[in-house]
Amino acid sequence: MEIKSVRINAGKGYDVSIGENLLGSCGDVIGKTINPCRAAIITDSNVERLFLSTVADSLENEGFSVSTFSFPAGEQSKSIGTLSNILEFLGESRLTRTDCVLALGGGVTGDLAGFAAGTYLRGIRYVQIPTTFLAAVDSSVGGKTGINLMTGKNLAGVFVQPEAVICDVSCVKQLPDEVFADGAAEAIKTGILSGEDLFSLFETGDVKPSLAEIIKMCVTFKGSIVEADEFEAGLRKTLNLGHTVGHAIEKCSNYAISHGHAVAAGMAVIARAADRLGFSSTPVAPRIEKTLIRNSLPIYTDFSAENLTAAALSDKKRSGEEITLVIPDSIGRCYLKKIPVSTLHSVINAGLEVSSWTS
Ligand code: GLY
Repeated sequence: MEIKSVRINAGKGYDVSIGENLLGSCGDVIGKTINPCRAAIITDSNVERLFLSTVADSLENEGFSVSTFSFPAGEQSKSIGTLSNILEFLGESRLTRTDCVLALGGGVTGDLAGFAAGTYLRGIRYVQIPTTFLAAVDSSVGGKTGINLMTGKNLAGVFVQPEAVICDVSCVKQLPDEVFADGAAEAIKTGILSGEDLFSLFETGDVKPSLAEIIKMCVTFKGSIVEADEFEAGLRKTLNLGHTVGHAIEKCSNYAISHGHAVAAGMAVIARAADRLGFSSTPVAPRIEKTLIRNSLPIYTDFSAENLTAAALSDKKRSGEEITLVIPDSIGRCYLKKIPVSTLHSVINAGLEVSSWTS
């Protein structure tokens, strides 16, 4: 079995292991970093049905003592209520500082379980086991954890790096098309940031046979950004490309629109705005739009500029009377642009206009 490994030098440093059928041997992989102890698996109702027993058996075979907490699948669970239930569960399971939490699932699970691990007993170890494309290429790496508040997405959380990330590519291959597309959106985002090698795979290539390599490319690029700016003082903010409008779309839809689909539309909006307002040095929107469409992702939203602006202004990316936007300049080059909050509406409005090539 070939395992690709990417080292991330943040926190204490950890390996991201990427390969086929890794869930069945995850106890062995985790055992290389963490001695047998109590292991609390946090998962959701979908992943519990599909993969929990494989992971639990593998851990028990290596001498871990396993307990499990499952919550209803969906973004609505990324709440203070679920976090509170997980923390109580860790207490009831008598986890100590020498034990660990395992996040088995997608981005919601990783964010919740990581937040719980980062705060329970003021921090215990955790391992990310992403089962979705989105979690594999983005949320499982880099130590961002959190929950949504009524006022906005990811407004409470901690930065806490995992001990290891185990990414089973076979799980990603089984995803329904809609869920796979969510991950494609974050991988395309990484391609816009990192350059042609990755972007062109989504623009013209055949993605599924290259999944392990694509995940490795995304993780390697994200790792380089996180290593340079773990706590998002500057450079890491570029990973938020498409997220100001994307988070606003999620919030306006009451989270009925998934993160990846919202970010896709958010990237198209900011790319069109960049072209129309002269923020990009060459036209970027048509290539981005065509690549999103090719990967079954949206490039427009039905929400108005007024509603999106109001939602975006409660986003973390606001700082006083300014908000930082990530502007795509060309494939492989994005930059940060601070604008007064009073001009956000006109930027979003410019990005909502239909592109001439699609009309
Ligand atoms: N998902 C963006 C980041 O981890 O910074």
